[in-house]
Amino acid sequence: MSVEIAARPVTTRDIRARKGGDPIVCLTAYTAPMARLLDPHVDVLLVGDSLGMVVYGLPTTIGVTLEMMIAHGQAVMRGAAHACVVVDMPFGSYQESPEQAFRNAARLMMETGCAAVKLEGGEEMADTIRFLVERGVPVMAHVGLTPQSVHAFGGFRARGKSEAEADKILADARAAADAGAFSVVLEGTHEPLARQITGDVAIPTIGIGASPACDGQVLVIDDVLGLFSDFKPKFVKRFADLAPLVGEAAARYAAEVKARSFPGPEHCFGAKPPQA
Ligand code: KIV
Repeated sequence: MSVEIAARPVTTRDIRARKGGDPIVCLTAYTAPMARLLDPHVDVLLVGDSLGMVVYGLPTTIGVTLEMMIAHGQAVMRGAAHACVVVDMPFGSYQESPEQAFRNAARLMMETGCAAVKLEGGEEMADTIRFLVERGVPVMAHVGLTPQSVHAFGGFRARGKSEAEADKILADARAAADAGAFSVVLEGTHEPLARQITGDVAIPTIGIGASPACDGQVLVIDDVLGLFSDFKPKFVKRFADLAPLVGEAAARYAAEVKARSFPGPEHCFGAKPPQA
């Protein structure tokens, strides 16, 4: 008799162990159906606070709330069977104190069932990362271009061009690793710096606009699919161009409705028309 053993989900320890090995594949997801489609192909599904812009049309991630992250974390968990699901801590939910961060990280984990949380910051967040990790919350850190600091940075631009900025990002990545983060997202840093950090820290670096020198890559799924046409970061390679297809499908639907040629219930539900 053969017994089929279901593959277990990828854990944060598995991700940590991939340092210097097989590249880590990560995509964002915000809904259950998309999570179901992506799950077989990725190691990590990130419920990023980029959902503020991608799903809710906000100008930045600043307006994203813990409740939004919980709702979308729950949806993604319903669609994921294999990938390690990581949920972003939104702006204002962790910067005040390690205790505030733990309270909100615990809510994210308890109410969604996710495997880990992600937060932005390195040196300044090291005590908080340590506090969370020591209490059972696996943390993915995020350094370099950290979108929640967009107003402090004065806009979205690559980081680490000056020596001082590069030194700070390296120190941030080291501090996150020393504090116990299981991986670190490196955003918007140039290849030499990404290569240096990847060689320097003992945890996997996951790049976004940070060159192939990282241990893995993450992209926003709507960018990958070409669904998000308002703004396209320079580093994003599109793997599909779905926005025009959505427009075409909507236009064909509108034409059928207007021509009254829209199918009746027999086409939709397989019901037989009543016999005369
Ligand atoms: O919010 C997000 O989607 C992210 C990734 C793009 C790294 O933080």
